[in-house]
Amino acid sequence: MADLIAPETATVPLDPPYRFDDYRSTVLRSPGKALVVPPAGLTELTGPVFGTGDLRETDADLTVHGDGEAIGERIIVHGRVTDDRGKPVRNTLIEIWQANAAGRYIHSGDQHPAPLDPNFVGAGRCLTDDEGRYRFVSIKPGPYPWKNHHNAWRPAHIHLSLFGRAFTQRLVTQMYFPGDPLFFQDPIFNAIRDERARKRLISVYDHSVTSPEWATGYRFDIVVGGAEATPVADEEA
Ligand SMILES: [Fe+2]
Repeated sequence: MADLIAPETATVPLDPPYRFDDYRSTVLRSPGKALVVPPAGLTELTGPVFGTGDLRETDADLTVHGDGEAIGERIIVHGRVTDDRGKPVRNTLIEIWQANAAGRYIHSGDQHPAPLDPNFVGAGRCLTDDEGRYRFVSIKPGPYPWKNHHNAWRPAHIHLSLFGRAFTQRLVTQMYFPGDPLFFQDPIFNAIRDERARKRLISVYDHSVTSPEWATGYRFDIVVGGAEATPVADEEA
C-alpha cells in the first residue's frame, strides 16, 4: 500500500496553503512559523489500522440507520483509490461525513435553521477492496450558509478521510458535485490554486452505477501522491 499523507510530505504544491485570507478562520489558526516534524516512532509507523473485523456492512450505507427512509436524492458514490503509479491502494479505511439534503449537520455547532433528518446519520465508512474500489450509499447533501463572508454558501460536498497504515498517514479532502453554481464564491474550493487540481475534487456523474427507480450515481477517484494527486481540503467547514 502506498503511504498516504506522511508528515514529511504534508505540504505539497497542489494543496491549499494553511493561510488563505478569503477563508477567514485560517488567518487566526494557520501556523506563523515553519512546522517542525518530529521523528516518527514505532507508534507512528506501526500503530493500529482498521481491518474488515472493525466494520459492519451497513457502515457504508448512510441511509439505513433510522426507522424510516432518509429524505433527499439517494446517491451511490463510488471510485478507486490509486497511488501515483496507478496501483490500487487496498484495504484503506475511507470515512465520509456530510450534511443532509437540507444542508444541516447533526452537530451542536450547526445551528443553521434547516431541518434535521432522524433517518440520516451523515457519516459512514468502508475499506477499499483489492482493486482499490469503494462504494457508499448516501443522500445528496444540500449547500449550507456558513458566515465566512456576506451571503456565503458552501457548495454541496462530502468530506472524506483516508487512513494509511498508521494514524499519521491520512488524507482529508472533500468531494464536490458537477455543475455546482456555488464554486465561484467558495474560498475552501478556491484555496486550491491549481485549477486542474481543484477540478479533481469534482465528482463525475456516472449513469452506469445508478439503480433504476432508486438512486443516481457519482464517481470520485482518489490519487494518493504524485503530480496528479487528489489535493487535501479543509475538514472544518
Ligand atoms: Fe462541510
